Amino acid sequence: MLLEISDIHVHYGKIAALKGVSAEVDQGEIVTLIGANGAGKTTTLKTISGLRPLSAGRIVFDGQDISRMPGHKRVLAGIGQAPEGRGIFPGMTVEENLLMGAYARKGDVSKELKEVYELFPRLAERKGQAGGTMSGGEQQMLAIGRAMMADPKVLLLDEPSMGLAPLLVQQIFSIIQEINRRGCTVLLVEQNAQQALQIAHRAYVLETGRVVKSAAAHDLLDDPEVRAAYLGGDLGEAAASPAAERVPEPRSGEDAAAAADDTVVDDDARKD
Ligand SMILES: Nc1ncnc2c1ncn2[C@@H]1O[C@H](COP(=O)(O)OP(=O)(O)OP(=O)(O)O)[C@@H](O)[C@H]1O
Ligand SMILES: [Mg+2]
Repeated sequence: MLLEISDIHVHYGKIAALKGVSAEVDQGEIVTLIGANGAGKTTTLKTISGLRPLSAGRIVFDGQDISRMPGHKRVLAGIGQAPEGRGIFPGMTVEENLLMGAYARKGDVSKELKEVYELFPRLAERKGQAGGTMSGGEQQMLAIGRAMMADPKVLLLDEPSMGLAPLLVQQIFSIIQEINRRGCTVLLVEQNAQQALQIAHRAYVLETGRVVKSAAAHDLLDDPEVRAAYLGGDLGEAAASPAAERVPEPRSGEDAAAAADDTVVDDDARKD
């Protein structure tokens, strides 16, 4: 197991944000954390990367207990994070921002830089542009690219699709899959549960600081409770379909993909 979180408790002052969360991420997986606003998703990621201290519990990464390891050492150990809200350096160029991602590493980083430019051709085109003048989507790519510069074993992503236009959301999700195909394990936090569940291997559902469900991501796509709470209920399928009374049959992979497309279209319609 690459990452093992055991019964972690985290507080902000007296407020308990995490009340005994346990989760595991295996080498090579994409695991997603889904849950409502305030459920504790960001706190979980921040605690793994060392930005929040544990009140209780244990985090083991790559065979080592990192529960009390300072954050910068966790980066060196192989934990990469692209933070919520991006946090890029606005006055630095794109390339300088990327190099900052590798600042803690010694030696040549040209291989990592080349890989990031392969993943994000847009960043290569704009390498001399000030980070702060990049568009929202481009800044998101920059934040992910910067985290990749440290050559992480696991990449922690907090709402990478937030605020992005639907086309860019698709692009970010396929880049996450490509990063995973290239051997990087991914722990993904998303409000966009439908798409997160489609690319993830496994998923955990968080509710007010606790894990209330964990399963194969595909199973959660069909889970009635999860559908009702996080995937817009049955509206995408039943209400939009002329055959709404028909008893739903188990879906084939293709139908599932088509249903997902419908949901994306619905999302667009809502935003407009
Ligand atoms: N800096 C803080 N000070 C006090 N309470 C905080 C702080 N950050 C988070 N919390 C509280 O901790 C709980 C978990 O917050 P967290 O940011 O982890 O939720 P989240 O699942 O990421 O939500 P969202 O989907 O809105 O990003 C919430 O009740 C939140 O109000
Ligand atoms: Mg959050």
